[in-house]
Amino acid sequence: MTFRLISQALTHPFAIGSLSLVLLGGLRPCVLTAQVQPTTKDHHVTKDGDAETPRFVNNLLQKMTLEEKIGQMSQIALNQPQDVSPDQRILNGQVGSFLFLSDAREINRLQHIAVDRSRLHIPLIFGFDVIHGFRTIYPVPLALAASWDPAMVEHVQSMAAKEASAVGVDWTFAPMVDIARDPRWGRIMEGAGEDPYLGSKMAAAQVLGFQGDELGAPDHILACVKHFAGYGAAVGGRDYDSSDISDEQLWNIYLPPFEAAVRAGSGSLMPAYMDLNGVPATGNKFLLQDVLRDKWKFDGFVVSDWDAVLNLTTHGFASSPEDAAARAVNAGVDMEMTSHIYRDNLPAAVKDDLVKESTIDGAVRRILTTKYRLGLFSHPYVDPSKSAAQLVTPEQRHAARVAAEQTAVLLRNEGALLPLSKSLKSIAVIGPLADSKPDIMGSWSLAGHPADAVTVLEGIRKRLGAGTTVSWAKGVEISRGQHSIFDSQFPSPQPMLKTDADRDAEFAHAIDLVKKSQVAVLVLGEAQNMSGERASRSTLTLPGRQQQLLEAAVATGKPVVLVLLNGRPLNITWASQHVPAILDAWYPGTEGGNAIADLLFGDANPGGKLPVTWPRSVGQVPIFYARNLTQIPNAPDTRYWDGSSAPLYPFGYGLSYTTFKLDDLKLAAPSVQAGSSLMVSVDVQNTGSGAGDEVVQLYTHQRSGTASRPVRELKGFRRITLRPGEKQTVTLQLDTHDLGFWSSQTRHWSIEPGLFDLWVGTSSAATDHATFTVLPQ
Ligand code: NOJ
Repeated sequence: MTFRLISQALTHPFAIGSLSLVLLGGLRPCVLTAQVQPTTKDHHVTKDGDAETPRFVNNLLQKMTLEEKIGQMSQIALNQPQDVSPDQRILNGQVGSFLFLSDAREINRLQHIAVDRSRLHIPLIFGFDVIHGFRTIYPVPLALAASWDPAMVEHVQSMAAKEASAVGVDWTFAPMVDIARDPRWGRIMEGAGEDPYLGSKMAAAQVLGFQGDELGAPDHILACVKHFAGYGAAVGGRDYDSSDISDEQLWNIYLPPFEAAVRAGSGSLMPAYMDLNGVPATGNKFLLQDVLRDKWKFDGFVVSDWDAVLNLTTHGFASSPEDAAARAVNAGVDMEMTSHIYRDNLPAAVKDDLVKESTIDGAVRRILTTKYRLGLFSHPYVDPSKSAAQLVTPEQRHAARVAAEQTAVLLRNEGALLPLSKSLKSIAVIGPLADSKPDIMGSWSLAGHPADAVTVLEGIRKRLGAGTTVSWAKGVEISRGQHSIFDSQFPSPQPMLKTDADRDAEFAHAIDLVKKSQVAVLVLGEAQNMSGERASRSTLTLPGRQQQLLEAAVATGKPVVLVLLNGRPLNITWASQHVPAILDAWYPGTEGGNAIADLLFGDANPGGKLPVTWPRSVGQVPIFYARNLTQIPNAPDTRYWDGSSAPLYPFGYGLSYTTFKLDDLKLAAPSVQAGSSLMVSVDVQNTGSGAGDEVVQLYTHQRSGTASRPVRELKGFRRITLRPGEKQTVTLQLDTHDLGFWSSQTRHWSIEPGLFDLWVGTSSAATDHATFTVLPQ
């Protein structure tokens, strides 16, 4: 069902399309309950927490019929078959929100119907999945996490918000903050990876980027933290399958990034699709009431995922659509995305006393409050004449290029093969992803235009002068071989090579080009539709014949650089021993090709670090650095008799073209009182010949307590840039609050006094060590 509806929705031209200047006959004043003159969304007048807000909302609520209230709780995805037109639904007061609209004129047209012609003139809120950019596509969220630079990530999402708000989008379904420790899961690409500390920093940064300082800030949009909670632990890495998570893992690993997003002010939240410990997240009172509202005091509103309310019946949880509607709303789901179970069933559920009208009022109050805080009552419209000029601007492209450079991770560089010389006479650019525009953008690029994107081949060609021959061949074709929910956006390319003879000839041609060139750059990995929603895998191999192509290229004896485009760790164990240089570019976005050329030729220096542990083989997953020590702790890499249990690359790992030396680790004191913090400093020096970035990382381990604690946990980091020879003292504040944890023995959260190890270094394998004691408060 989800699949059908999404693909229908995606058949709609998502592209911004023509943004020709259409004047809307002026921005007509109308009678508003708010008693304000509506104008464009270009500036805001309301303030978050405005004392006027509750009075305004309660006043409006009193005037609403039950049907109008339920209308505010209903979101429609256009392009689903509609029995009643969207215009009529608005006039009837049966819809509060639309998703997937990206055309400023159409957004304004619908908004005018709501504001000018519906009985209570309540503005609509327009949602869109602005996951890693709107029209300008930025690196995917997993890549953003690899920057280890929350300030840069905040900037990226504020740029994405700026473009989206320029066409009238008010609301994004992001950030996705699901911790994921299993790269088979396709949606690992949408989050920040395996670690709750890094994940929390990225969660907060993205919320601030989208929303700005307060709801309604100009050029910003409402955030929606998702998918609450535990989606990343889908059993077997199979998308939509259940998650079974112990309380200890839930509180210490999976919930912290959500809490960080809520604390950063995320104005909305989306529950996950799957069952968490047997209870669907969409009907889960523990999550939506006890944790979210009672414990974290979340005051935004909750929107279901696509069809998730209806799906409470398919989970074998709700007995009927009416039961599903009642259980979702009673659990705390304020707005329903697409399945119109609320619209069709809540009136009867209220009548049958399955749902109290006060519960409906609570949901509507939260939705209206958010609309009010966003400034929609006073500024409901966008100015379409200004929209087009704000898309894919040089400023956006610049930010996208910098982000792509900052997120790449250099995994190997034997003999300093990289950076390449710009005076090469010949270079072969090989691989099915080398000249593919959709693939450089990655999944969830719904409003992106492939024509805007720069491929690796284009980036390299632009970089090199006429004196260099740049040859290119696909070598092999790759295909998912199975429908993707995003096919309507980026149609899966049809194979051009029809016969074995064609395929062999193309393969041989590519290898011939490698032989004739001084250097080969192989751009391999996964096509964009192989990663993302409904894109889980049972293997992590390079799809198709890419591995053979890589091996044949290396067998020529020519220096080979492997550039990976990917949304998950892939099996590159062979490459890690035989390919001298490996650059993980993830899905870098619109400016990806230019950024990769910058990196390959030394105009930028890679400084990204892995936000996930990189396995050697799929048999090792789930694999993560913060495991517990348990029995025979000094041989942790020998857990399998048929292979190493050590990762291929540890969490936090990444090289640079320059080198760094860490020295003189100092703790401000040998002990710290629970509740306060400890300053930790280390000297970092650039000991190489070029400027570069290093990420200083701080890990701790609690030696003993009411529960065994992980061997290491990230508790601080900072990315810095140093010129050659430059030395800097980096001071990190270790907050004892971050040493607290939820113990399954005591069944509560506390900071436990005792002895701790501390390491500072440049990956989770850091060796500079000290100890400190946490004293009781
Ligand atoms: C389903 C996805 O799970 C969710 O992340 C997304 O926001 C909605 N569809 C809307 O596209």
